[in-house]
Amino acid sequence: MEKVRVELGERSYDILISSAWLEEVGETIRGLVPDEKVLVISDERVGPLYAEKVLASLHSSGFDADDLFLPMGEEYKTLAEVEKVFNFLAEYNYSRGCTLIALGGGVVGDITGFAAATYMRGVHYIQMPTSLLAMVDSSVGGKTGVNHRLSKNLIGAFYQPRLVFIDTDVLKTLQPEEFRAGLGEVIKYGVIRDDELFLTLEDEMERLVNDEKESLEHIIKRCCEIKSEITSKDEREANIRAILNFGHTIGHAIEALTNYRKYRHGEAVAIGMIAAARIAVKMGMFDDMQSQRLWEVIVKAKLPYRCGILDPEDIMGRMRKDKKVRAGKIRMVLPKKIGEVEVRDDIPEKEILNVLCEMGSEK
Ligand SMILES: NC(=O)c1ccc[n+]([C@@H]2O[C@H](COP(=O)([O-])OP(=O)(O)OC[C@H]3O[C@@H](n4cnc5c(N)ncnc54)[C@H](O)[C@@H]3O)[C@@H](O)[C@H]2O)c1
Ligand SMILES: [Zn+2]
Repeated sequence: MEKVRVELGERSYDILISSAWLEEVGETIRGLVPDEKVLVISDERVGPLYAEKVLASLHSSGFDADDLFLPMGEEYKTLAEVEKVFNFLAEYNYSRGCTLIALGGGVVGDITGFAAATYMRGVHYIQMPTSLLAMVDSSVGGKTGVNHRLSKNLIGAFYQPRLVFIDTDVLKTLQPEEFRAGLGEVIKYGVIRDDELFLTLEDEMERLVNDEKESLEHIIKRCCEIKSEITSKDEREANIRAILNFGHTIGHAIEALTNYRKYRHGEAVAIGMIAAARIAVKMGMFDDMQSQRLWEVIVKAKLPYRCGILDPEDIMGRMRKDKKVRAGKIRMVLPKKIGEVEVRDDIPEKEILNVLCEMGSEK
């Protein structure tokens, strides 16, 4: 088993990573949360696959546990779904000592975390992420929340779980394209913080996308370590946490312009990372060979690497509206070398536009 400690004073917690150990969740959380009611929240795809096993384990460890399945998909990451959770909790008399377990991808994790942060002003919760993206990103760091009709992730709270419990075996049922989208974030960690992880990805990427996932526990652990190190230093994104947004300024713009339909988040981030690398090359701060290596690893992960039919001017316009834009300046995370990045807000817009034009017209 791999273990990562997230250091946040009295709110510190562990991330435990292993395989084929869902049935041990009950024993693992005993003593960590009060011996009271537990609600396992999942979605309509993940719930039928794994909730029964999780409930059986909780029951045999003496918990009074039940489950609740929400509809799946980003369009259901709403206050209306959080209210369904509240209704269930209130109706069945869940008290302040109860625990919520998020069994699912980032959507379930964000909804459950937010419900836990706000039900009776805060109850315990545990993350059991089942998508690669949730394992390496959304389950760690304590950002919770839901979308508003006018903006993504507009409503939320910082609220840390008591434990992140990862069983990598569940990735066997994750759709391959969801797995690859998660790889986009994994590649990001290599570029922002860890050249060795990046080297591992260069070596292993073909095997990973072809369903040989032996080295995955180690890779997930490294990503969790990086995210936890960064969020421990800067829980509320005042400074260093911003480097986690590498690839995201352009990525978010592309997602928004295509109404969150054409690209998965990790796919848009892949395009954004390539663009950021090329901009860094044009600014003379990043080596062209290293930019090429990033491109190759993204291609090996079968992630998109062009912005296709989108108009570069529209992408720019969208970036100016981004919440990361300060005082009219576009802020981007740019690589200096594989393993090190820098937040910059002095990028000539002309350079961004040039790169987007090049990437749009490439075959
Ligand atoms: N809180 C944070 O810090 C943070 C960070 C990054 C992303 N996010 C959020 O995470 C969400 C995206 O997460 P996601 O990519 O996991 O999406 P998701 O939760 O929609 O899951 C993707 C799909 O995969 C299915 N799925 C998940 N695990 C499965 C499994 N093991 N087997 C079969 N199917 C499985 C789900 O049912 C869903 O259909 C977004 O809402 C994003 O805003 C949050
Ligand atoms: Zn992301």
